[in-house]
Amino acid sequence: MLYIGIDLGTSAVKLLLMDSEGKIVHVVSREYPLYFPQPGWSEQKPEDWYEQTMEGIRELIQDVDKSQVAGISFGGQMHGLVILDGEDQVIRPAILWNDGRTTEETDYLNNAIGKEKLSQYTANIAFAGFTAPKILWVKKNEPENFARIAKIMLPKDYIAYKLTGVHCTDVSDASGMLLFDVKNREWSREMCEICGISTSQLARCYESYEKVGTVLPEIARELGISDKVVVAAGAGDNAAAAVGTGTVGDNMCNISLGTSGTIFISSKNFGVDKFNALHSFAHADGSYHLMGCMLSAASCNKWWMDEIVGTKDYAGEQASIEKLGENHVYFLPYLMGERSPHNNPNARATFIGMTMDTDRADMTQAVLEGVAFALRDSLEVAKSLGIDLKRTKICGGGAKSPLWKKIIANVLNLKVDVIESEEGPAMGGAMLAAVACGEYGSVEEIAAKVVRIIDTLEPDPGLVEKYEARYAQFKEIYPACRPLFEIIK
Ligand code: XUL
Repeated sequence: MLYIGIDLGTSAVKLLLMDSEGKIVHVVSREYPLYFPQPGWSEQKPEDWYEQTMEGIRELIQDVDKSQVAGISFGGQMHGLVILDGEDQVIRPAILWNDGRTTEETDYLNNAIGKEKLSQYTANIAFAGFTAPKILWVKKNEPENFARIAKIMLPKDYIAYKLTGVHCTDVSDASGMLLFDVKNREWSREMCEICGISTSQLARCYESYEKVGTVLPEIARELGISDKVVVAAGAGDNAAAAVGTGTVGDNMCNISLGTSGTIFISSKNFGVDKFNALHSFAHADGSYHLMGCMLSAASCNKWWMDEIVGTKDYAGEQASIEKLGENHVYFLPYLMGERSPHNNPNARATFIGMTMDTDRADMTQAVLEGVAFALRDSLEVAKSLGIDLKRTKICGGGAKSPLWKKIIANVLNLKVDVIESEEGPAMGGAMLAAVACGEYGSVEEIAAKVVRIIDTLEPDPGLVEKYEARYAQFKEIYPACRPLFEIIK
């Protein structure tokens, strides 16, 4: 049988076709626009997602026996607010995970309601990108839109709805809404009350590997597939990527170097860190995870290479980097503000430490290192909770760079396992579909059977020591700049 994994990302939707043994048959990708209506705001049109997803599915399966397609599932960009009216029409563009407009609402939730209560209700505190503050923003700034809301959804759930007609979500993605009682895997009535919504405006919540329905007859006709094709709930992109890299079970780690950068630690048990610096979310395998999320990771390098350096020659520019661990230029990667662990939408990107002999390679290196140091910030929080990691998996566009993987291995002092398939969330989506169809008994079972490690990067003790000293300096830069970020707006 064949399974379709849909990774509804921020720059593009990636679609992957997997067979029963976990072999990737085909991958396609389709882009859509991203809108920044004001500095720090970030929106997309759900209609664009749907159109490109449908085009992508058509292309993905054009050369295969379509009767073999058995299941579809997702990994989707998290936290985005999609609102539908009584006729299931999209009310306004989706407000995305990296949108920083909700400072006021986030402060209200964290200070007036209080972090303790939020953590008690949801296992998390408010971050600007989370969904609940966005709902409060719409309530205050667009009351006519707020009054029309019949359903509140997350990005990938809009696609699942269009395919099946079912309003659904899954536990991992719901966890990032700040409306979900993560420990008990159910909606929080208290949080709904705080946001002025009712649970009937939220979708039914499934485990990620559960079937939510089958494709609607008209969609089946349009795509040339059977109307018995199963659609599974899927997961937020990080949980789906964790499935795709086999980061399931206890104390496993995955780093994703996509538009965002995340460090994802799976756990059999529910847990919350004292300061809620890491997110405590449900995992797609039926358990839990902790996660640190930086808002700009591979996107920092893309910005640097495409917009500033302008050559777009990623490998060529990296080839001239020679002095690992000795760079005296630092880069704070906060192009969209920062989530973990600083929780500061006003933070901004910064280069510091240049001298007359600084060249382009030093600056490029600083960008790659700045992202690694910022991931290390979240790793430090995990360590402070007693979490002891020796190795990590890695995925996402940035993971294609051997140099960046080496820097990560040495800055974080972790062995980095490279997986045969780099298609984290799309692969995870296809795997979840296979479980929903009964081809495998559980997420752990399919991960054990289909995920293959093809290489491991070992940290080099000498370089680890050099980076230790560099990280000690990096850590000082954000606190020193923080007051400036309140002025530079
Ligand atoms: C996770 C997060 C990002 C998005 C990116 O909390 O906000 O990783 O899911 O797609």
